[in-house]
Order: sequence, then C-alpha cells, then structure tokens
Amino acid sequence: MEKFVLSLDEGTTSARAIIFDRNSEILGFGQYEFPQHYPRPGWVEHDPEEIWDAQLRAIKTALEMAKVEPSQIAAIGVTNQRETTIVWDRKGKPLYNAIVWQCRRTAEIVEEIKKEYGDVIKEKTGLVPDAYFSASKLKWVLDNVPGLRERAEKGEVMFGTVDTFLIYRLTGEHITDYSNASRTMLFNIKKLEWDEELLEIFGIPESILPEVRESSEVYGYTKKELLGAEIPVSGDAGDQQAALFGQAAFEEGTVKATYGTGNFILANTGRMILYSDNLLTTIAWGLDGKVTYALEGSVFITGAAVQWLRDGIEIIKSASETEELATKLASNEGVYFVPAFVGLGAPYWDQFARGLIIGITRGTSREHFARATLEAIAYLTRDVIEEMERLISIKELRVDGGATANNFLMQFQADILNKRVIRPVVKETTALGAAYLAGLAVDYWESLDEIRALWRAERVFEPSMDEETRERLYRGWKEAVKRAMGWAKI
Ligand code: G3P
Repeated sequence: MEKFVLSLDEGTTSARAIIFDRNSEILGFGQYEFPQHYPRPGWVEHDPEEIWDAQLRAIKTALEMAKVEPSQIAAIGVTNQRETTIVWDRKGKPLYNAIVWQCRRTAEIVEEIKKEYGDVIKEKTGLVPDAYFSASKLKWVLDNVPGLRERAEKGEVMFGTVDTFLIYRLTGEHITDYSNASRTMLFNIKKLEWDEELLEIFGIPESILPEVRESSEVYGYTKKELLGAEIPVSGDAGDQQAALFGQAAFEEGTVKATYGTGNFILANTGRMILYSDNLLTTIAWGLDGKVTYALEGSVFITGAAVQWLRDGIEIIKSASETEELATKLASNEGVYFVPAFVGLGAPYWDQFARGLIIGITRGTSREHFARATLEAIAYLTRDVIEEMERLISIKELRVDGGATANNFLMQFQADILNKRVIRPVVKETTALGAAYLAGLAVDYWESLDEIRALWRAERVFEPSMDEETRERLYRGWKEAVKRAMGWAKI
C-alpha cells in the first residue's frame, strides 16, 4: 500500500492540510479560513475551537482530494503560527480565546519588565523583549481570567502555542518542540530548558508548560475516533522554521524569506548562537540530538499592505494586479510607502511607528501606490538582510509564500539586494518542512541528503540594477522610514 505524509499548517488566518508523496509532490490540499476577533483596538484573538474545526475540515478535504485513506498516512507533521498563546483544561477545553502573536495588549507590561530585565531576556532567550512573544500574553491570561491562576496552581491548566494545542487534541500528549519553545520568551536557548528566573519574572507556574521535544520524533498517535486510524504525529516546528527546513536550508549561511502577511527572514547559523541588537536569535529545529540555531528578522506587515490596497482603500481588485500596475511605471518617481500599520518590527522595533506615504504629487496614481507597496516589501527585506550581514555572509535568498508569484517583486528584490533570488518548484515550503520533519522520524525519508536532492529551483532572479540607482532608491527608503518612526507618540 502506497504511503504519504500529511502536513498540518495552521496559520494566522487559515488552517491548511497538505498531503505529500515521497517526491514532495502535492496530492491533496484543504484550506479553511477562520474568524479573526478584535475585541478592542490593537487586540487580536482566535477561538481555539474555530481553529480546530478549520483544521479538521482541511484534513478531510485534503484526504478526499488525494483519494487517500487515513491508514495510508505514514506520519503527520504540525506547523503553526508561532507565539499565539492558548490555555486549556485537562479535557482539552480552552479556558480563554487564543491571544494572537499580533496582539498588542501587553505592550505596557513588556515595557515595564524590559526596564529591569531586558538584558537578561535577550541573553537567555535571544529575543528582543516585545509583546509579540508568548510570555506576557500568558501572564495576562493568568492575571485577568477569573480563577485561572488558582486552577493553574492546582495543576488543572495547560498552556501551549498552537502546535501544542493541536497535538494535545490529536494525541493527548502535552508537548512542544524547541523551535516553538524558543518563541515563548520563557525558554533558555543555551541550556535548552524552561528558565526558572524568567518563569519567576512573568509569574508562570512551571506545571502548566509542555514538555519540550525535538522537532522530528514520534510524540504520540492520533486518537482513533478522530480520523479512523492511529497515525504517528512525528513532526513539529514553528511555521517560519519549518519553511527554512522545507527550503532545505541545512547549511550555515543559507537564508530564506517567506512573503506572507508579514515577511519572515531566517538564516541558518548552525551550532552558533549569534546575537544581534535588532534581530532575533531563535532555534531552527532540534534533530538527531542536536539543536540548530537561526537569526531571524520578523517584518510584521508586507502582504497585509497589499491586502489594504485591495480591502482597505479598494484601489485594486486582486493582489496579483499590483504586478501589472507597478510595471506601468519606469520607476517609483519618488513615491515611498512605509506600511508601519502596527509599528515596525525588525530591524527597527518601534512600537510607535505608523504608516506613511510620501512623495505624492498631482500626478500620483494607483500605479504609484502599487509600486511603492511592492518596493516597500523588498526594502524591508533588505533592511533585515543588511543587519544579518553584519554577522554572517549571505550569497543568495531562497523565497517562498504567496507574493513570490509576483515577478516584478522578485526581480526588484534581487536588484535592491544585489543578490540572486531563488524561487523553488514547491512553493508550499512551510507545510513541506513539517512533512519532512514528520517523515524523517518514521524513515519515510531517510536523510537530509535525500531531502536536499528534492529541492529544486523553479526560477532564479539575477540582480541587474546599477549600483547608483540601487543605493539612491534605498537612501530614499531610509529617509521615509525615519519620518514614520515614533509617529504615534506625537
Ligand atoms: O511569528 C508569527 C508567524 O509565525 C506567523 O506566520 O504565516 O501565520 O502569518 P503566518
């Protein structure tokens, strides 16, 4: 009987399930969006039950499309929107909505804690203290949901990121992997354990934390009543780390950028824990008794700015239209757009920056808006790569995610970086990474070499812009960013 690997890719706006065969070809695909809840300005929540329903439906759709029986699934890999914080009871019932990574409700808590413990946090977790990570979200839930802290102290509460919640529901095991643990701001990335001092600072009882495991090992088996078969769940990684794995970026210095709602740029740094003031140090994965580290630049808003053109100011009908509009102009004609809708993440880390469009004249049209938006995505990515290059040398960029279909953007990215940009054949790199991790644990794939051989470029974008133009454009961008920073404080 032919066997396959099922990957669950639970993202910020939708849950997906993808079935891969041994050649990493996609046989079946299911995707369901779930509601975003915004109870107050700056707050973002998901209902864990809605995530779970969307995920189960996606699995069923993928199996039907692939005409594959659950008994033909050799392994399941889970990958997820990271940092998003869920608490539930021993029966698996959520005790509050998931507090999403984008939620800013704990910004003040972090500002306060950072004053005294900013350096300790950076040293131990590799993270720039920010409301982005789970620690302050978990503190908030324990402090604000009536009775929760008492129940937690009695051992009745479980915490986890979305991978942990899904794996608990699938198998009954309360686990996470190194990559997800490293995003909580509670995990010591050198000692590879939950950090007592950080738990104390944030007031988190250790009993509610999951066990931290490697990213590729059998954690448990799906409960029979769910899918009609007991399938090993054997891969777990945060979505950006999974994408790095799916890009076969196993060597030090290999870099990938995922173009989604935001852009997440990760560089494999092997066994080295490199610190940067403006980037995150994170765990890429744990595999075969070893942990691989990465440097990460998280850019919060990129694709979301294109969505804003479409749904906010309604100047385009579909995201793909931006390519045609942008190429109608020979240059940006001095128009820049800084999409700092929720402040700026890496490398600026300014919670008070706000969006800005500058250089507008009477002749400015929607073509300029489209072009400035796409260019901004490329400049923001260069900002991160420049910062990385202070610490490592980078030859080229492997790309994935929805916006990589935009050839104008990819060419402009290569030009503005002055580096080759490589788009692989399989664009579902995140799901593929989780599938590889799961498959390796059950010998579906045997080695990293086998996986490396499956990675193939679909198109390579070579830089072709002259230096003078490149640096002039980028200087304009830096000037625009300066003007956007701190705006919410004025
Ligand atoms: O850190 C947040 C990141 O994991 C979210 O990814 O693809 O769900 O927007 P995505």
